[in-house]
Amino acid sequence: MGEIPANDPPSPMLDEDPDSWIVFGVYTLTQRASMTDSMQCPIPAAGAPEAVHPLLDLDPEALKCPHGFFSQLRDEGPVTWLPQIRAYAVTHAADITAVLRQPEIYSSSNVMGPDRERQMVETMGELLVTSPELTEVLMRAQPGAVTSLLNADPPLHGRQRSLVNRGFTPRRIRDTEPLIRSLSHDLIDRFAANGQVDLVGQFAVPLPLLVIADRLGVPDSDLDKFKAWSDEFIASISNQLLTPETLRTMLITMADFYDYFATLIEQRRLSPTDDLLSVVANAEIDGDQLEMPELLNMCSQFLVAGSETTTKLITSTFALLLPDRSLYERVRSDHSLIPSLVEEALRLEPPVQGAFRLATVDTKIGDVDVPAGSALWLVYASGNRDKAEYASPEDLDLDQAGRQHLAFGFGEHYCLGAALARLQTSTAIEILLDRLPELEIHPDNTFEYELSYFTRGLRHLDLTFTPGTASSS
Ligand code: HEM
Repeated sequence: MGEIPANDPPSPMLDEDPDSWIVFGVYTLTQRASMTDSMQCPIPAAGAPEAVHPLLDLDPEALKCPHGFFSQLRDEGPVTWLPQIRAYAVTHAADITAVLRQPEIYSSSNVMGPDRERQMVETMGELLVTSPELTEVLMRAQPGAVTSLLNADPPLHGRQRSLVNRGFTPRRIRDTEPLIRSLSHDLIDRFAANGQVDLVGQFAVPLPLLVIADRLGVPDSDLDKFKAWSDEFIASISNQLLTPETLRTMLITMADFYDYFATLIEQRRLSPTDDLLSVVANAEIDGDQLEMPELLNMCSQFLVAGSETTTKLITSTFALLLPDRSLYERVRSDHSLIPSLVEEALRLEPPVQGAFRLATVDTKIGDVDVPAGSALWLVYASGNRDKAEYASPEDLDLDQAGRQHLAFGFGEHYCLGAALARLQTSTAIEILLDRLPELEIHPDNTFEYELSYFTRGLRHLDLTFTPGTASSS
């Protein structure tokens, strides 16, 4: 265990003056004036083990398999201090859910964690010094500063969630199935005759993007624009090193995104249709409606939280299934097993590896004192392989698929789009298995993971299959 330095002051909570915020993507950063304070995180109290690991430096080899590291953390105890990312890892399922049951103590104000916040603040500061003209763009990107859903705490979060839930009722989710089916067939038609495909680029990326674009009412003529926004939003949540140049591009694209959706929301308020945007924009409880900045921020969250995650789930399900030929045959001949397969893929390879919380008071996890202001990385991927919860935690076992897992989080912030993600993934898998016979991983496929410890996903997955014809449907 490393030497324990003197205790730093805890991070301040958000300033009330929006003009002093630095904003970005799906979360709000603390104000510029207290940048230095906000980046400091209390160091571990005596009793907390400490771990350093190449995964957190985004070493490509370590990214291939983070599970050994998580298992080591679980063995060490309930809480481990990770100096590289200035956060405590919480790795046991029971402790993770205990934290998530107390949103009034463990704040979601910085779900991306202090390390990403530090990078963002430093780079933003650098950029604004060299390019003061970007201040205008920053103002247009202000809806990113609004606290909503992912980064909201009670009671604000509860109010927003009850309004937005109206767009995600079981009936509305079921109604998207024909769209998912027809988009899946269209995408497969483009490569069915080739006998090979990069599942990520040619199917798993475009499908969720097209589904969410449709649900948000984006016309086909604007899909390229939508895709560019998605790329920039996704870059904003990856752990890759930010440069002033990449940040400039992100900022400009995000300002454009908010301008575009402000117009679309106005239109939907004047003449509602049946899409998700109309429902959310017009949802009302006792005269209370979501404000325009909240709606804009939510649109960006639907895009970021909903698209790339589903891409990763479709891909990881195939990466787990195809090497096991007897399981592949079983699932191919019995589609009723697909939902269980998807649950096991979620458990074993959760696209979101964990989320951060901020302790707002001095607290204790297990026998470790956690000082107020500490960042906690709740490692969902670790809780999902906790032997206290599963009979065979490391194996893909369809019989244990009924057990709860943490891939969609837990409690107040439980994923709003979980049902949509499950439906999309199961439908896509069924159609891919039917349309692409003798599906196998290409012998030359290399398993390269994206540079992130926050999310987990393959960059590409090259598959081979018996060439077929276009769908008649
Ligand atoms: C496989 C796909 C998906 C995965 C693995 C996933 C994962 C998650 C996780 C882990 C959380 C909780 C974060 C936390 O604890 O702070 C979350 C929240 C959220 N997800 Fe998903 N998600 C997926 C798909 C979707 C889709 C399709 C949508 C919407 C179209 C969506 C929208 C959201 C939103 C809005 C939240 C915030 C909810 C809140 O804070 O109340 N997600 N998701």
